[in-house]
Amino acid sequence: MEKYDVKDMSQAEGGRRRIDWAEREMPVLRLIRERFEKEKPLKGIRVSACLHVTTETANLMKTLQAGGADVVLTASNPLSTQDDVAASLVAHDEIPVFAIKGESNEVYYKHLKAALDHKPQLTMDDGADLVSTIHKERRELLNDIIGGTEETTTGVIRLRAMAADKALNFPIIAVNDAMTKHFFDNRYGTGQSTLDGIIRATNVLLAGKTFVVAGYGWCGRGLAQRARGLGSDVVVTEVDPLKALEAVMDGFRVMPMQDAAKIGDVFCTLTGDLNVIDKHHFEAMKEGAIISNSGHFNVEINIPALESLSTSKKLVRPFVEQYEMKDGRRIYLLGEGRLINLAAAEGHPASVMDMSFANQALSAEYMVRNAASLSKAVYTVPEDIDREIARLKLEAMGVVVDVLTPEQESYLNSWEEGT
Ligand SMILES: NC(=O)c1ccc[n+]([C@@H]2O[C@H](COP(=O)([O-])OP(=O)(O)OC[C@H]3O[C@@H](n4cnc5c(N)ncnc54)[C@H](O)[C@@H]3O)[C@@H](O)[C@H]2O)c1
Repeated sequence: MEKYDVKDMSQAEGGRRRIDWAEREMPVLRLIRERFEKEKPLKGIRVSACLHVTTETANLMKTLQAGGADVVLTASNPLSTQDDVAASLVAHDEIPVFAIKGESNEVYYKHLKAALDHKPQLTMDDGADLVSTIHKERRELLNDIIGGTEETTTGVIRLRAMAADKALNFPIIAVNDAMTKHFFDNRYGTGQSTLDGIIRATNVLLAGKTFVVAGYGWCGRGLAQRARGLGSDVVVTEVDPLKALEAVMDGFRVMPMQDAAKIGDVFCTLTGDLNVIDKHHFEAMKEGAIISNSGHFNVEINIPALESLSTSKKLVRPFVEQYEMKDGRRIYLLGEGRLINLAAAEGHPASVMDMSFANQALSAEYMVRNAASLSKAVYTVPEDIDREIARLKLEAMGVVVDVLTPEQESYLNSWEEGT
């Protein structure tokens, strides 16, 4: 395998401009980078990162490099790479990147393995593909690995399952579980960028449409609220009674997908679950229904079932595939069912990724310092890191908050005082 594999090095200059643009909105990561430059907490540490290759990720890679790490990057999804960013990292930062937007599954795994040939001491995953490939196929690498970090809900679920099976061989920090990650990235980031992806792909007017959101977790909540903001009649589907109740009290209609399928104009799944839109749902859908996914893997929409129900398919716009059903209805699948915010738009805005990637950088530093005392388990981000990121973000935004007076502190810590 070559030293890197990107689409077109002539795009590097444009990539650099966009990376710099994102950096303006990443003040917390900038502060970390400045400290890393002086202290070099990751000196000589080999890092293999499997993340969406975006402008924000480029800023994280540059931060790790400033800390002394020896970094390589591969994509965490075949459709999420920004080719100009990949070229810029290679050309301007000498960071090997293995990622091409639209690569096949086969090339995706070839790239992932190339990143593993770097013999990482630290893994940085978004969806746990590095960790699972190491454990399944490259176990010789386990000797060198001190630990890893994981970016997303689906990856954390996979890793916790591995730990429960006693199959996990090194400690992982679940960056997703930091409050300064999922409260903001999953909700505000996914909420906005998913709509951005759907709109860029289709240019449909969302006002007056029935918009079906499957899953009312962190991502689903963010999307439902924003779709309502654009004038859609939002319907939520859920399996968890608490989340369903919350959706009802937030003012959304909640119903099973079988009923939602009949009335939805636009659908988006954000569950981390399998076949949430399935064969019998396609059978019930209206002519012209638009379906998309913003969950991590492209398994939430049963695409093989859609294929089996249709007589033909064709690409009618970039990222919009028209499936013609046997009865003449047309159903439109966006971005091959892959996360639409990264396939058809640019992923989350830099301002939220600032916090997610501040967590990544500080968790990498924490892992290097503390790996020896950690066991083969999934850890949450230490609370002091989480709070410090919130404090720095507020400071960067120019927001000042109150502090407890000594009297309040003592009151809140006492049990004697009552009525
Ligand atoms: N697109 C992005 O950029 C992006 C960003 C962050 C997270 N993610 C991914 O989005 C997915 C959701 O993440 P989250 O943080 O919101 O998780 P979450 O656990 O907070 O929410 C998922 C919700 O889906 C519900 N659900 C599960 N199966 C369902 C089904 N069959 N029908 C309806 N609802 C169902 C669950 O009850 C839960 O409330 C994950 O795959 C995560 O990795 C994507």
